Amino acid sequence: MKLAIRGSVLTFVKNPFHFPVEESFVFEEDGVVVVEDGKVAFFGPAATGLSQLEEVDEVHHYRDSLIMPGFIDCHVHYPQTEIIGAYGTQLIEWLNKYTFVTEQKFADKNYAEQTAEIFIRELLAAGTTTASVFCTVAPESVDAFFKVSIKYRMRNIAGKVLMDRHAPDALLDTAQSGYDQSKELIEKWHGKDRSLYSITPRFAPTSTPEQMDMTGALWSEFEGTYLQSHISENLDEIKWVKELYPECSDYLAVYEKYGQVGPRAIYGHGIHLSEDELARLSESGTALAHCPTSNLFLGSGLFSAWGASDLKRPVRTGLATDLGGGTSFSQLTSMNEAYKIAQLNGESLSAFHAFYLATRGAAEALYLEDKIGSIAPGFEADLVVMDLKATPLVEHRLSHAENLHDLLFALMILAQLKQLRQHILLVNAWLFEGRVTINILTRATRAFCRPTRK
Ligand code: GUN
Ligand code: ZN
Repeated sequence: MKLAIRGSVLTFVKNPFHFPVEESFVFEEDGVVVVEDGKVAFFGPAATGLSQLEEVDEVHHYRDSLIMPGFIDCHVHYPQTEIIGAYGTQLIEWLNKYTFVTEQKFADKNYAEQTAEIFIRELLAAGTTTASVFCTVAPESVDAFFKVSIKYRMRNIAGKVLMDRHAPDALLDTAQSGYDQSKELIEKWHGKDRSLYSITPRFAPTSTPEQMDMTGALWSEFEGTYLQSHISENLDEIKWVKELYPECSDYLAVYEKYGQVGPRAIYGHGIHLSEDELARLSESGTALAHCPTSNLFLGSGLFSAWGASDLKRPVRTGLATDLGGGTSFSQLTSMNEAYKIAQLNGESLSAFHAFYLATRGAAEALYLEDKIGSIAPGFEADLVVMDLKATPLVEHRLSHAENLHDLLFALMILAQLKQLRQHILLVNAWLFEGRVTINILTRATRAFCRPTRK
């Protein structure tokens, strides 16, 4: 099956934080993406792609739309779907009062599977085609997640949370059981279809030094696996880490001590990192996930995307929702809030920078920039088609856009999930139950995205 998607196409080729913005992207006003066997076979202007078009089985022409690589969410917790918008607390209290209560339900595989189904449909409805996902301590929660992820043919990264102290007993493993269970899950899921495994110590305070040690050892044992955790999100958290690991000079030094930094390690937040810590992240190739809606909702602080990307010591940085600390599945909403955070930092985040952080930048943070996050021959064909007439207001505002940047910027500011969910069309061109998903998603997005409940 070979199909062509025609319309306005935007993709990034370089990092706009490091190169002149106009060199960082390719925009084809009338472009064509030819997809074959789940991969991009051709991308270019429709005029030169027309010969390719003759050979394709189907052509889908989207007028008044913008075609982009599917969004990538670098850091998100699927079991927290049911506590989005829990009132009134900051990180540590929020974890104890809401998160640790909810996560106990996920030892029940059926419950976990139902939530994974809702979560993944919401991701897809928001145009997110890849996410780096925290499950819970229960191995069942990981089995449930990957089962559903594979059903939807997504390229997702996920792992079992490791936690052997400072949480309710029902959520604790031990250094040994955490190691054994993770190992079994890696062997079961890592590399299965498009799934990738991430070793997932929750954060330094909830693991003993013994567990931290075994976690680092496990990561070095399994080449190609990921490691995800949290760092420097909240000032009380940072103080706590100092008390728990007095021998470490700063927060990052804890993860360094236990062999948890390097390529394919990604840490959520990093709001309050020092210059020295940023330089060490840069040197080791460790990535950060910028989680704007979560940082605002939990009152954690203002991350500087420009600071992290500083060419003197650039840190690979991607955009993330961090649900349920975050408040929206939509990376368009993350971009909107990232812009406002930059404003409060006295910085300015253009739409090009924001869209980059949610696509190619996020792929670079996950060391997947040769597979996803851009539209080019050989890349996996996870695409999103955004309707530029999604609502009367979006249509009216965008019809007055003065240039591409104005259009993109207004889109990320106005496009709320509620407005766009019926209008974001996904083209995960992997065969889905024998049919290319575009057929399911073009007309029936709403039905497709409606959660099923047992
Ligand atoms: N730090 C440790 N666990 C969590 C979590 O679940 N969410 C957030 N936002 N921060 C954390
Ligand atoms: Zn998180």
